[in-house]
Amino acid sequence: MSTNKGLEGVVAAETRLSMVDGAGGELILGGFDVAELAMNATFEETAWLLWHGEMPSEEDLTRFRAALAERRALPPATVDLLRGCAAARISVMDALRIAAGTISLMKGDEAMNLLATFPTIVATYWHFLHDRRPVAPRADLSHAANYLYMLSGDVPDAERVRGTETYLNTVVDHGLSASTFTARVITSTESDLVSAITGALGAMKGPLHGGAPGPALDMVFEIGDASRAEQVLRGKIEAGEKLMGFGHRVYKVRDPRADVLAAAAERMFTRGGDMHLYELAKAVEATAIRLLAEYKPGRNLQTNVEFYTALLLHGLGLEVPLFTPTFSISRVAGWIAHCLEQRKDNRIIRPQSVYVGVRRVYPEQREGSLAAPR
Ligand SMILES: CC(C)(COP(=O)(O)OP(=O)(O)OC[C@H]1O[C@@H](n2cnc3c(N)ncnc32)[C@H](O)[C@@H]1OP(=O)(O)O)[C@@H](O)C(=O)NCCC(=O)NCCS
Repeated sequence: MSTNKGLEGVVAAETRLSMVDGAGGELILGGFDVAELAMNATFEETAWLLWHGEMPSEEDLTRFRAALAERRALPPATVDLLRGCAAARISVMDALRIAAGTISLMKGDEAMNLLATFPTIVATYWHFLHDRRPVAPRADLSHAANYLYMLSGDVPDAERVRGTETYLNTVVDHGLSASTFTARVITSTESDLVSAITGALGAMKGPLHGGAPGPALDMVFEIGDASRAEQVLRGKIEAGEKLMGFGHRVYKVRDPRADVLAAAAERMFTRGGDMHLYELAKAVEATAIRLLAEYKPGRNLQTNVEFYTALLLHGLGLEVPLFTPTFSISRVAGWIAHCLEQRKDNRIIRPQSVYVGVRRVYPEQREGSLAAPR
């Protein structure tokens, strides 16, 4: 029996949710090109689209927004648990995973409860970690605006909300990523949504997946000035280091999500952000692509989603430990959509393994064993 470590090239599901074309550099979300959807839709529209397979009517959207808004508050036991997590100083992703499991305490629709509470969990925990009182959610704000509001205590301006919506829409789904596959496997056993999403968070946390846009930002800060970009980046490549935010396992052309996020970052920075940082990042990107082509010819190493995620989230005022949790606040909508899709045409996902261990015979004379002489 041959094995396929990592299941590369294995097609394990049919989906109407997203199409990732690594060779063509195309990402389709719910039928739309990623750029078109990400830059125009609200996050509520995107979540509805993925869950229902069509764009919501005005009425659907109003009801959906209201239903999400009324579910934002956390059960008291969840808040107590987050306080305990903060005392133990665990990471935001660990706290999110622990708290996500407690969403089973809420009554009603599990999908809505999960989607609605993720921003509250992250923001509440963030305040506890900083010894502050959490900011209560506001029902009159959109999902994205309320998240920013709960983090900072200030109602964000329209530009920051648009930047956040664009980010959340861009990363909402991406084929059968490790976390999405995890959620589908759990769902395939006819388990519940909270279990599937808690498992998916475990997969998301790993550095090979939810990853670290943090290091990409660190690299830009380390360079500090465009005139130093070439010298620093050459030094890194020659020392065998990977340039963070470049290269991708699937995309061998520019990651289409990088384009969307670059445009969103540019829009946000031009309308009142740190233009120096934006210009620096553009210069670092151009130099990195030129040097990667020089040192790794024929590899087509291009900018990936992490590079501009880092810049955009930083521009939105989010600190690095919030990057992967914010990714999860978006991706939970995609995970749920995949779970619902899996349920519609379910077959338990149960691959095989090949035994490569030895055969043994249990020693007869061992005390307490049934075979031992009396
Ligand atoms: C994403 C990543 C893991 C993909 O790895 P991969 O599929 O093994 O990459 P490839 O097979 O295309 O690599 C081809 C060559 O380019 C090199 N390479 C790939 N990405 C590189 C990078 N960002 N910087 C420098 N060199 C890189 C590889 O080391 C390899 O070199 P070699 O042939 O001399 O050994 C890798 O590009 C990477 O580590 N990037 C930086 C981290 C990052 O941004 N991660 C977020 C991804 S969304």
